[in-house]
Amino acid sequence: MPAELSPIDKAKFAAAKRAVDFVEDGMRVGLGTGSTAAWMVRCLGELVREEGLRITGVPTSSRTADLARQVGITVVGLDEAKWLDLTIDGTDEFDANLNLIKGGGGALLQEKIVATASDQMIVIADAAKEVAQLGAFPLPVEVVPFGWQTTKALIEETLVSLDVLGRSASLRLNGQQPFITDEGNYIVDLHLNRIGNARQLALVVNQIPGVVENGLFIDICDVVIIGQGDGRVELR
Ligand code: 5RP
Repeated sequence: MPAELSPIDKAKFAAAKRAVDFVEDGMRVGLGTGSTAAWMVRCLGELVREEGLRITGVPTSSRTADLARQVGITVVGLDEAKWLDLTIDGTDEFDANLNLIKGGGGALLQEKIVATASDQMIVIADAAKEVAQLGAFPLPVEVVPFGWQTTKALIEETLVSLDVLGRSASLRLNGQQPFITDEGNYIVDLHLNRIGNARQLALVVNQIPGVVENGLFIDICDVVIIGQGDGRVELR
């Protein structure tokens, strides 16, 4: 473990290190996005450089692609890889059914496409990401820039009929400007506080014209590896 890490980074590192045990020689691996996934990419890079592990990585963002190349991982696009053995990614929240809220880093679209095209998805997280009910973390929804205010208003109207506590939505900003995803879209964050029926919400939100994808990952994750500040890990 690198020296001088904060307890939260120790937890993220511990989960990431355990997750790379699942990676075997020759695998095609989806590489997630975020600070926890970055530890996993660095750990994999070390295995590639120092132990000759041969893998093909499919990154879920331009940030992860840059890091993967830097640490020596061969990177290809999803269509070149076609199907993946395993994806390892972080999360913003997970519940007892291993359903997730993702997209805090704005990469939910590629993350969902890549995880869905994988035999297995392993999520790595510090213990603070575990929740009894999803929704305290704002749910990211990727929308096309054209007519985004209308799309946002439609989303808010739709929330009224759903089992959620909060109903406000905000455009994600990068400074004074809209945050732009790798696909050139915007992110609208939904402040719901509690999501009663995540499956229904995910389906209904995706029906709204202008919505590209939402950050609810339902029945996609197979295993969560929870890291603790003292370096211990737990598998769910
Ligand atoms: C990016 C994501 C990340 O996996 C999620 O935001 C967790 O990030 P971190 O590991 O930095 O807490 O979904 O879109």
